[in-house]
Amino acid sequence: MKTVLYPGSFDPFTNGHLDLVTRAGQLFDRVIVAVAVNSAKNPLFTMEERCELIKESCAHLEHVEVVSFQGLLVDALDRFQADAVLRGLRAFSDFEYELQMALLNRNLKAQCETIFMMPTLKNSFVASSLVKEVARLHGDFEQYVPEPVAKAVKAKLNP
Ligand code: PNS
Repeated sequence: MKTVLYPGSFDPFTNGHLDLVTRAGQLFDRVIVAVAVNSAKNPLFTMEERCELIKESCAHLEHVEVVSFQGLLVDALDRFQADAVLRGLRAFSDFEYELQMALLNRNLKAQCETIFMMPTLKNSFVASSLVKEVARLHGDFEQYVPEPVAKAVKAKLNP
């Protein structure tokens, strides 16, 4: 039984994130989406909202769990009995930060392996920060996020 932990801010969860969870579900027995508590200073969504939106967006997928975590990722890996960390790589620009994080995590905990997966090309430019910017400027952001997220972003930005 192999478990992968997919950590992130997910503010909000995008089609790119969903793409990765779906792909990971084909390789692992259990996929845990782990929402980091303090990763963004001013998140648009609260921790509870982010978790709920991920649950709704992944409702059609089996063996996906959603949790929140505080503190070090390597400690969360132990707590949730995960075998590896999953991170998405969209472009070369992601690589430097991701490599640094993967090596740091392995230095903190020797058994910590990070697995990188690429989303499909049409999701490879989608980022939570850009989705929020397009939404704030009244652009068509809905094509980049799952339906429950689109509704929640609309409600949050145009109450
Ligand atoms: O979606 P993000 O913001 O790129 O996710 C970054 C995240 C939350 C995975 C990263 O900041 C993290 O692992 N935070 C937990 C604290 C930690 O372990 N830091 C040291 C490793 S970088």
